[in-house]
Amino acid sequence: MATIVVEGGTRLEGKVRVSGAKNAALIAISAALLANGPVYLENVPRISDVLVMLSIVHDLGAGTEWESEDCVVIYPPDSPDFETPYEKVKQLRASNILLGPLLAKVGKAHIALPGGCNIGSRPMDLHIKGLGSLGAEISLQQGFIKAKANGLKGARIYLDFPSVGATENIMMAAVVAKGQTIIENAAKEPEIVDLANLLNAMGARVRGAGTDVIKVEGVAALSGVRYAIIPDRIEAGTFMVAAAATGGDVLVENVIPTHLEPVTAKLREANAEVIEQDDTIWVKSNKALRPIDIKTLPYPGFPTDMQSQMMAMLAVTPGTSIIVENVFENRMQVADELKRMGAKIKIQGRTAVIEGIPRLEGAQVRASDLRAGAALIVAGLLADGATEIDNVHYIDRGYENLEQKFRGIGARISRNE
Ligand code: EPZ
Repeated sequence: MATIVVEGGTRLEGKVRVSGAKNAALIAISAALLANGPVYLENVPRISDVLVMLSIVHDLGAGTEWESEDCVVIYPPDSPDFETPYEKVKQLRASNILLGPLLAKVGKAHIALPGGCNIGSRPMDLHIKGLGSLGAEISLQQGFIKAKANGLKGARIYLDFPSVGATENIMMAAVVAKGQTIIENAAKEPEIVDLANLLNAMGARVRGAGTDVIKVEGVAALSGVRYAIIPDRIEAGTFMVAAAATGGDVLVENVIPTHLEPVTAKLREANAEVIEQDDTIWVKSNKALRPIDIKTLPYPGFPTDMQSQMMAMLAVTPGTSIIVENVFENRMQVADELKRMGAKIKIQGRTAVIEGIPRLEGAQVRASDLRAGAALIVAGLLADGATEIDNVHYIDRGYENLEQKFRGIGARISRNE
C-alpha cells in the first residue's frame, strides 16, 4: 500500500493553484444525466472519487470522455439504467445523489444504501422524506433504496437539518417536476449554488440557492451545456491552514474568497495575516499563533471538512483551544493519530480540548478519512523528523496532485508506492 512521507520543519513559501471542487464535480456529473444533450464540465479534478462517479454514470448508460486535462464530457442516455450496484456505492457514498436525477429521468432508482463510514452513520432519511413529498414511493429493501415515481409533482419541503446531499437530490428531482417546489431550511453551501447555476444553465428555473429557501419551477426538459465548476474551497483552506501553521508565506490561487470566509476569520483570530484579492488568498504568519475556539456548522459556519486540518495547527499553537464538531457524530479520529505524534488532545464526545505543545514528533500514522489524511500532512510539516502516512487512498479521493502542490511551496514530501 502506498504511503506518504513528510519531513518536518519547513516553512511553506510560494504559490499554489487549487483544482476544481470535488463536491461540486460529483454533483455536476450526476446532474448531467438530466440533460437531453452533451454536458461539458470544466475545471474538474482528476481525483479517484470523480473517476468512480464517471464509471457509475457510464454503467448507467452515459458516454463519458475527457476533452482536455480538466474538462470531461458526459453524453446522457435517453433512458439510463436505474440501478447502482453496492460494490460501486461502497467506494463512493456520494453516488447516493443519483437518486434525484434517476427519479426525474427514468421514474425509477435502485441505489445501494452507502452504509456508515468512518465519520458517521450517514443516514438518508431527509433525502427519502423530501423525494417522497415530490411523489416518489420509496422503500428500503435488502440494503437498497428502491424508489419509483409516475411523474413528480412540486411540493413544499422542510428539511429538519440543512443536509447538502438531501438539498441536492430534491433540487435535481424538482427541476422537471410539475409545478413549484419550495425547499425550506435548505443547505447554503457554495456547492449548492454551483449546482443551481449549472441546472439553470441547462434551462432549469431554480431561485434562492445559497439562502434558506430554494424555489424551483419545474420545466419540461433540460439541455446540454458547457459549464465550469467552482474551485475547491476545502483544498484552498487546507493550504491556508498549512501556511499559517508553518509560519509560512503562501499565495493560494484559483479561489473564490467569499467561500473561505469562515476559515479566513478563524486564521485571523489565530493571529495569521490573511489578504483576500479577486481570485487569490495570501496567508502570512510570522508571528506566534494564538489559541482559538471552533464550532463546525453548516455553511456559512465553519466547515466540518476543515476541522481536522485546524486540529493539526492548534496542536502546536500555545495555549488551550477547543473544537466542537456539530455536523458529524464521529469525526475526531485524527486526534488519536496526532496524539501518537505527541499532541495533547482530550476528546469528550464531539468536543476536543487541545493544549498546544512546541513541536510534534514524526511518527507512523494512518488516515481514517480524506480530511484526516490532509490533516496528517499538515501535522507532518510541524513535526521533528519524518512522518509516514498510511491509507493515502483516502487522500487521493479528494486531492489532485497533493504532494506535487505541497512540494511546490517548499514541503519535503514524497510518496512510497
Ligand atoms: C456533503 O456530504 C459533503 N460530501 C461532505 O464532504 C461534507 O462534509 C458534508 O456535505 C457537510 O458539509 C459531498 O458533497 C459529496 P449532509 P453529505 O447530508 O451531503 C445528517 C468531504 O470530505 N443527515 O449535509 O453527506 C448527516 O448524518 C465530504 O469532502 C441526516 O441526518 O452531508 C450528517 O450528520 C465528507 N439525514 C449531517 O446531516 C440525511 O438524510 C450532514 O450531512 C442526510 C444527512
